[in-house]
Amino acid sequence: MKTPQSPDEILASFKSEAPQAQSLEDATRLKNKYLGRSGLVSSSFDSISSLPPAERKDYGRRLNELKNLLIREIGALETAFSRVAVAPKEDFTLPAVKSFSGGLHPLTQIQDDIVGILRGFGFSVATGPEAELITYNFDMLNTPPWHPARDLTDTFYLDVPARDRLLRTHTSPVQIRVMKSRTPPIRIVAPGRTYRSDKPDATHSPVFMQMEGLYVDRGVTFGDLKGTVLAFYRSLFGRKVNIRLRPGYFPFTEPSAEVDMSCVFCSGKGCRVCKSSGWLELAGAGMVHPNVLKGAAIDPEVFSGWAFGFGLERIAILKYGVDDIRLFYENDIRFLSQF
Ligand code: FA5
Repeated sequence: MKTPQSPDEILASFKSEAPQAQSLEDATRLKNKYLGRSGLVSSSFDSISSLPPAERKDYGRRLNELKNLLIREIGALETAFSRVAVAPKEDFTLPAVKSFSGGLHPLTQIQDDIVGILRGFGFSVATGPEAELITYNFDMLNTPPWHPARDLTDTFYLDVPARDRLLRTHTSPVQIRVMKSRTPPIRIVAPGRTYRSDKPDATHSPVFMQMEGLYVDRGVTFGDLKGTVLAFYRSLFGRKVNIRLRPGYFPFTEPSAEVDMSCVFCSGKGCRVCKSSGWLELAGAGMVHPNVLKGAAIDPEVFSGWAFGFGLERIAILKYGVDDIRLFYENDIRFLSQF
């Protein structure tokens, strides 16, 4: 009978051969050679009786350990090579497939930036429905029945001739909803989509975004309004910009103002964008009209407030140097992927 081989020798032989295995066939060959019926491990077990009895027990234990080790090692080789065998054959000479990653729409980005700035000033976000009641969009904002903004040509009514509901023409109705449901101090910012039947051109879209700001408390002044708007524009456009307030008219504010910002393209010197005036009109603003406060059950003898509303696209145009508002709504991926 043959003398059994030492487990250490068998292991050394396996270790020198295993790294050369390149395929599932090589792994199977190793398995047959070491673990097969007449492989090195089995034949060593068969010839164990040729050893002196005192050595058999220890030899058997070491051979068993070796067997378990080889089962694990060869099993791992088989698994690795069978994965490669089922994987599709790649052609690494083909051009790579371009992957697209999604991103936020530029208007959403600028809205988030602005809300972030105003949150820093102590404002919280409020919202209202886009399909709004006429009473909130016009009546409670002190807008007289004859006001041209109510015309069918300006407004998308949802129920003609009743005219109870419309697609809100501005974010100002959120002021009413908030003042009716809260007590001062109130400090909110209300971003949202608004609708007007305006003919589309480079600066007008029938669907556009507005951002409303409202501050109501005891002793709120026009000076607070000016300071807040200036701090806001400087946070967004840099410390060099300036603002000016011109007299304006809105039925829901008194006094009312148009807010202009010094042109960011020419630093106020005058250029094509600001039509050589050095200023860009960006918002409407004013002190909340006493009738509006009263309608929302806030005593105008005790409280005062200011509000502003600006178009988000006009801000985005300036911030990103885009010259046509329609680009924001055409969903052309070549345009959107630049932001
Ligand atoms: C208003 O809508 C008032 N609600 C603003 C306000 C709020 C005044 C609170 C006082 C107190 P106005 O109609 O001017 O105001 O619109 C405000 C801004 O919306 C404009 O300055 C402009 O930036 C933007 N805007 C108006 N119409 C369009 C349009 N069709 N497309 C794009 N932006 C528009």
